[in-house]
Amino acid sequence: SDRKLRFDNRVAVVTGAGAGLGREYALLLAERGAKVVVNDLGGSHSGEGASQRAADIVVEEIRRAGGEAVADYNSVIDGAMVIETALKAFGRVDILINNAGILRDRSLAKTSEQDWNLVNDVHLKGSFKCTQAAFPHMKAQRYGRIIMTSSNSGIYGNFGQANYSAAKMGLVGLANTVAIEGARNNVLCNVIIPTAASRMTEGILPDILFNELKPKLIAPVVAYLCHESCQDNGSYIESAAGWATKVHTVRGKGAVLRPSLIDTVTPEYVKNVWSNVTDMSKAKHLNAIGEASGYLLEVLEKMKEGDTIEDYFEFDNKQL
Ligand code: NAI
Repeated sequence: SDRKLRFDNRVAVVTGAGAGLGREYALLLAERGAKVVVNDLGGSHSGEGASQRAADIVVEEIRRAGGEAVADYNSVIDGAMVIETALKAFGRVDILINNAGILRDRSLAKTSEQDWNLVNDVHLKGSFKCTQAAFPHMKAQRYGRIIMTSSNSGIYGNFGQANYSAAKMGLVGLANTVAIEGARNNVLCNVIIPTAASRMTEGILPDILFNELKPKLIAPVVAYLCHESCQDNGSYIESAAGWATKVHTVRGKGAVLRPSLIDTVTPEYVKNVWSNVTDMSKAKHLNAIGEASGYLLEVLEKMKEGDTIEDYFEFDNKQL
């Protein structure tokens, strides 16, 4: 139906909501009835300094439009304090959008330990701390929607972003497990992979792209993922410029590395079957770690039955 998706009586915490993507998420959720905690430390794009201005301006914008919002100026690294602001102001927390972020781009050779630590602390540890603080409240009320923010820089790599890539891929791993641990209590966790014009990408994205990549075009995707009608859990959704797609990890069919169970594995044998090991023509997405180990057991069973390698390659993993 075309009924508007509403967030009345829901409390949403949006981290890094003083600018860019986070600001758009906060504005849209508030417009749709959510009470919003606008968290922002207000520092520079490389994580220096702090200011209340960024959060205050967005709270003011929401209130002027008739919405409800409060500011929170804590760093996401102090996640418990961020969530405490929601509990104090509104008595609950239903939605957490882990969005705050900084950049300290350097080639691997020039990345200092400080650059590594701060980028990982803000993105990865900050998301962990906020999520861990909100989680018990969401589980107890049997409702919660959590978003992690990843990046194509993590998924594909990007020159000069070792610290950021590691943190952004770490968030995918964090989301995978949060999705599993929350599912029973209707606490769902998904990943957004955005590309948007912001101070973070200014001077990095080509000019023609920059103008088309409005953060506002991604907010409805994130809002839907946070709505009670969305049942996705553990999905990675890439979105930009009014377009979105699901992203998957896939696993090839693989190859057995020895003629039979009594044989050992040799580097020569590995080399000989390498084209089968790396053949992705029959690649599949697995839904859970159990499917991965289940498949290994099937392969072992086949070998115990004395099937030849040829038989094994005929073996259709669809039956799993
Ligand atoms: P932005 O720089 O406009 O917004 C990030 C906000 O986070 C800023 O307002 C900043 O003050 C706040 N912040 C930084 N450190 C904080 C901390 N410790 N605690 C609380 N707030 C903090 O950047 P943008 O582009 O809106 O990015 C939002 C998220 O999306 C980030 O996680 C970023 O890594 C991610 N992302 C953005 C892409 C893009 O193309 N813009 C691409 C892929 C990922």
